[in-house]
Amino acid sequence: MLLRNAEILFNDRVSSELYHMGLLCPEIAARIQPGQFLMVRVQEGFDPLLRRPFAVHRIHHNDPPTSFEMLYRVVGRGTRLLADMQAAASLNLLGPLGRGFQVPDHDGFVLMVAGGIGIAPLPHLAETLVSSGFRGPFVLWFGGKTATELVCVKHFKDLGFAVQLVTEDGSEGRQGLVTGHLEQWLSQQGELPKVMYSCGPYPMQRLVAEMAARLGIPSQLSMEALMGCGVGACLSCSLRCRPLEDGPDPHYLNVCQDGPVFAGEEIVWE
Ligand SMILES: Cc1cc2nc3c(=O)[nH]c(=O)nc-3n(C[C@H](O)[C@H](O)[C@H](O)COP(=O)(O)OP(=O)(O)OC[C@H]3O[C@@H](n4cnc5c(N)ncnc54)[C@H](O)[C@@H]3O)c2cc1C
Ligand code: FES
Repeated sequence: MLLRNAEILFNDRVSSELYHMGLLCPEIAARIQPGQFLMVRVQEGFDPLLRRPFAVHRIHHNDPPTSFEMLYRVVGRGTRLLADMQAAASLNLLGPLGRGFQVPDHDGFVLMVAGGIGIAPLPHLAETLVSSGFRGPFVLWFGGKTATELVCVKHFKDLGFAVQLVTEDGSEGRQGLVTGHLEQWLSQQGELPKVMYSCGPYPMQRLVAEMAARLGIPSQLSMEALMGCGVGACLSCSLRCRPLEDGPDPHYLNVCQDGPVFAGEEIVWE
């Protein structure tokens, strides 16, 4: 784990609430694995006191990598302060933190599922699979409230993904919820995915995990939680999980250290 100041390369608004921030920090760019996260001090000084957790969205693949991007949604004070930051300013980062996505041990059909800002960590994973020689097929199911949430679709297509879009208001793709369409689509495929990777709101994650379990597909879910410290000290991010064979019931794990990525079958859903 490193504590580093990164230079902001750009901080661009991509839709009404979404921003793309480029950060120059060679040591973190070289170390961070897909699905790991950073605790970000959203402005200099100690107000707000708590850092905020963010995934790495993309690594810039110069050799060695020196910079990366975050994709974030403005939801409260911390992210509003982040949106006001200008290029050339410095941002203090703690990371890489947590356990990220596991890359499959052999090639085959990979399915990614994203809901809203849950798209944030998936391009880094997709780029890693492609640059490691995986050939797929790759499919992304991506849902949002409205078309403006469906960002970086072209990037996935350029990486060779077939992309299925769903919006709640029908402004793009199918109308409804990703989970409402996905299982029917899967039932029409000749082959099932070797793995399902998912990131999105809790109710979506639950349905994805249950669907994967029904179909016998291993799932890896990046879970969100309110995080005070990011390093296992404050216990604000505990997640109810299945008891270990000889361990206590219920069994709680920290999303910050034991996750944020969990196997679907590990989680006891509320
Ligand atoms: C491992 C991890 C990775 C994340 N990666 C990203 C990312 O790449 N891009 C991104 O936009 N967001 C990401 N988040 C969520 C992000 O950390 C929060 O949106 C951010 O901390 C909110 O800060 P704020 O001060 O703007 O909002 P606050 O004022 O703290 O809260 C505003 C509202 O957002 C809710 N909220 C705050 N934090 C979270 C959270 N962690 N999960 C769910 N709801 C929350 C609060 O309950 C409240 O309703 C991630 C969270 C985790 C745990
Ligand atoms: S955020 Fe403090 S223990 Fe996880």
